[in-house]
Amino acid sequence: MATYRETYANWQADPEGFWAEAAEALHWDRKWDKVLDDSAAPIYRWFSGAQTNTAYNCLDRQVAAGRGDQAALIYDSPVTGTVRSISYRTLRDDVAQFAGALRAQGVAKGDRVIIYMPMVPETAVAMLACARIGAVHSVVFGGFAANELATRIDDAKPKLIVAASCGLEPGRVVAYKPLLDGAIELARHKPQGCIILQREMERCALIPGRDVDWDAAQEGVAPADCVPVAATDPLYVLYTSGTTGIPKGVVRDNGGHMVALNWSMRNIYGVKPGEVFWAASDVGWVVGHSYIVYGPLLSGNTAILYEGKPVGTPDAGAFWRVIAQHDVVTLFTAPTAFRAIKQQDPEATLIGDYDLGKFRALFLAGERADPDTIQWAERHLKVPVIDHWWQTETGWPIVANPLGIEQLPVKYGSPSVVMPGYRVEVLDEGNHPVPADTIGSIALKLPLPPGCLPTLWENEAGYRSSYLEEHPGYYKTADAGYMDSDGYLYVMARTDDIINVAGHRLSTGGMEEVLAAHPDVAECAVIGVADALKGQLPLGFVVLNAGVTRDIGEIERELVGMIREQIGPVAAFKTAKVVQRLPKTRSGKVLRGTMRKIADGEEWRMPATIDDPVILDEITEALRDAGFAKDAK
Ligand code: COA
Ligand code: AMP
Repeated sequence: MATYRETYANWQADPEGFWAEAAEALHWDRKWDKVLDDSAAPIYRWFSGAQTNTAYNCLDRQVAAGRGDQAALIYDSPVTGTVRSISYRTLRDDVAQFAGALRAQGVAKGDRVIIYMPMVPETAVAMLACARIGAVHSVVFGGFAANELATRIDDAKPKLIVAASCGLEPGRVVAYKPLLDGAIELARHKPQGCIILQREMERCALIPGRDVDWDAAQEGVAPADCVPVAATDPLYVLYTSGTTGIPKGVVRDNGGHMVALNWSMRNIYGVKPGEVFWAASDVGWVVGHSYIVYGPLLSGNTAILYEGKPVGTPDAGAFWRVIAQHDVVTLFTAPTAFRAIKQQDPEATLIGDYDLGKFRALFLAGERADPDTIQWAERHLKVPVIDHWWQTETGWPIVANPLGIEQLPVKYGSPSVVMPGYRVEVLDEGNHPVPADTIGSIALKLPLPPGCLPTLWENEAGYRSSYLEEHPGYYKTADAGYMDSDGYLYVMARTDDIINVAGHRLSTGGMEEVLAAHPDVAECAVIGVADALKGQLPLGFVVLNAGVTRDIGEIERELVGMIREQIGPVAAFKTAKVVQRLPKTRSGKVLRGTMRKIADGEEWRMPATIDDPVILDEITEALRDAGFAKDAK
């Protein structure tokens, strides 16, 4: 068995040969003309000329290989008290039937379908049904508000929307239908129709002529066969936060995506076909796309689809219960989930109630994994705890500890080493690689490997300007950090306005756009401050228009309500503070970085270019008032 260094060297010696060999594990209706098509560099395409179908590879291929009776998905929902196992054969048939329903509604290859659904198996069915007929799905996370859904409808221009009547959060039913109706009302683009899954906890009224019931849509409809698509055709578009309120439509292709995910399951996560893999995330995020649905099914695993939380459903032993009950070998989640468990059960006493004999590894990503949390998990679980780093854009890990190849020594604070396919470099402001241990912008040398975004949805110019222009010849990750002399990467901070709240990626710029629209607000700034549970929390400062005499507390509450209404509860925006002025440089740039340091009680220096140093005293007071800046001097 090759070591990590040998595997990386093999890839470096012959990148196309490496991926062509990985592609042999999958079914192709037609083989590629070129493994890497660089004819339009710096826009690259993988496996050009090939024809395939991702849903076929996830389901039909597995049934043909004898996995028909194996569980493909286990739906475990403590919020509804349901556990249901769905075999590969049943899932294939359900997907074919729903694909028939999509076709009957006029959805054809290349059409977009938005999926606005909670964590139920029907969500995976809808995604795979799109893939089966070559339609392009775009899943929108249920915690986003109508306005965010509307933005995505206008960009993706779906022919159809698939939604559910409601989602379930602990202690609260989230009615999806009013959000869906509101979004369609707000959007300029109107879908031709909607298919609605009625959930018993809260059914909804259907709009005649527009909405069709999930079951009714499938009645009397013939199942649809797999439609071969080009390897380079889009499988899905997933929107992620950019530097403004307009999200970026990350495109994923069919061929490169399945090759990379299948390779990662075996080599990075170290799971073998037939084993149970659990990504405790949401299908609305990239982790859900790659490692709840596509990755595990492509590699013949059983995937867990968990509708619950790490705590409160019913207690901090929920994860151990799921691992034990379903023989999970590998769990992937965000560090925030473990911080939540640790907060409620510091000595992990609840682990003692369960047999975790089959459990082999915990993978953490989505935000920086703090060494405390990693060590706590190692101590109590007694398995490798692996931090790994990637992004919605890349679709699979850039830097990890490749358990399936070789477990390398862990260095706390580092997600470890660069995966084959990627060349990571740390650059200075002049785009020159910096020496080891020197902080800089983390960039990926082009071409990106299979599975990474080839472009943004109908926005190649945006792809070039957001990712390719700043460092010519590289993809910009917008993360900063350093690499040590052993090749371990340390990811320290974002270089843009993105913050990470409970593993959810959010734009403070997007929040500022919402606050600025309040009639009493003259200007504002939103910063991400450190939080012991969620990693970061957004905090807003606003300056009111001259002459506003309304109650300040009321305005602050309105601002909090606006973010919840227009971005969604997932933003976890709970604090807005009215201040007299914002601290700025003499050229008018708001000193967000200094405010963040004060809030976090970090050491900070008075910026030489500050316009008026006294303002920082007022900001410090406002932060103390809101429970931050405890140690600030
Ligand atoms: N639909 C509707 N609302 C949702 C939602 C969904 N799918 N998901 C979250 N929300 C709501 C929550 O109910 C909460 O609302 P509230 O302000 O009324 O309480 C709000 O959005 C914030 O949610 P969240 O940040 O998830 O906080 P939480 O307190 O509900 O849970 C954790 C905190 C740490 C337990 C939870 O975030 C978690 O399990 N995270 C780890 C896994 C993960 O999701 N990772 C993502 C990428 S890997
Ligand atoms: P997302 O696109 O939502 O997956 O968010 C990607 C961003 O989350 C990255 O660009 C990082 O800023 C951050 N991130 C993800 N994983 C890690 C990690 N292991 N360590 C540090 N930051 C991470």
